[in-house]
Amino acid sequence: MTSRPPMNLEETKPRLSSLHALIAPELAQAERVFQAELGSQFPFVQHLVDHCARYQGKRLRPTLVLLSGLASGRLTEDHPVLAAVVEMIHVATLVHDDVLDESLIRRHAATVNTEWGNEAAVLLGDYLFTHAFHLAASLESTRACRWIGRATNKVCEGELLQIHGRGNIELTEDEYFKAIEGKTAELTAVCCRLGASYAGADDQTTAAMDEFGRDVGIAFQIADDVLDIWGEERQTGKSLGTDLEKQKLTLPIIRLLAYGDPAAAQLVRAILADAKADARRGLQPILESSGALDESWRTAKIYVDRALAALGVLPASEAKTALARLAQFVVRRAS
Ligand code: IPE
Ligand code: IPE
Ligand code: MG
Ligand code: MG
Repeated sequence: MTSRPPMNLEETKPRLSSLHALIAPELAQAERVFQAELGSQFPFVQHLVDHCARYQGKRLRPTLVLLSGLASGRLTEDHPVLAAVVEMIHVATLVHDDVLDESLIRRHAATVNTEWGNEAAVLLGDYLFTHAFHLAASLESTRACRWIGRATNKVCEGELLQIHGRGNIELTEDEYFKAIEGKTAELTAVCCRLGASYAGADDQTTAAMDEFGRDVGIAFQIADDVLDIWGEERQTGKSLGTDLEKQKLTLPIIRLLAYGDPAAAQLVRAILADAKADARRGLQPILESSGALDESWRTAKIYVDRALAALGVLPASEAKTALARLAQFVVRRAS
């Protein structure tokens, strides 16, 4: 049986870059701040930094900072700095994540661990984290450092929860959500909160933007986990199937094991336990015919709807519309 690709991956793919027009100068400034902060006098270190900066990725987190600021107040000169800080934290987590997942490809290029080994990758990740906090500390108010510090604590906790859950075939949906809220949604939440707060938003708006970013992050990670099974490496530009290789259970699998037909669940367990199996190919048809895939999309879309509802506090603006489109984009992306 040839598996049909999930509907969302086949739909027209709105590009995040079309949302960048409103914030183009601030994004460009964030890019300059990013490069300047990470510059090193040592050619080897600079070479590693250049490698990471060569392919930019989707710049989702800087976009969240800047659009949230624009939609809820006025952008200041602190915003591009904040945008650079959150992207630095994000790239640090990616560099470390690729060590954990033994991934070969990231942003259409060899991972740091593949090219220079795990030791260099661990240290480069540290370099990115420390520079992110050094840069955040250049802002007059200590709020950014405190909030980003707290969010990064939660990101690390989420990654630890995930490592602890590896290989646990009984992993619950609740445990899965706790891990993804930590590792992914805490950072997207703080992006929106910072963007709003530094734009002068009141407490109610700032809290609503935190909620928006959190829900977008959860939907984004569910979609990412679906892409890990159904995506195309040439489109995502990163190694796929690593959740399965590392026995990290994600939503479609958890759903099927918990509620699916016992024979299908047995087959899934056997595929996951067989190190030599092509797990992606083996699991795709089972997860599709059981409805576990469609159910995962439905759940992701519930979080998108929650995110859209959170935007209700904002007055109408182009930036608000762009945030709404961004929330919809995260479950329609192919990369
Ligand atoms: C990848 O994030 C890591 C996850 C949280 C799933 P992105 O998909 O935003 O990565 P880039 O920045 O576009 O490369
Ligand atoms: C890691 O999740 C997310 C982080 C917060 C680093 P994944 O392992 O799913 O990220 P990708 O798929 O490698 O980008
Ligand atoms: Mg990974
Ligand atoms: Mg992934």
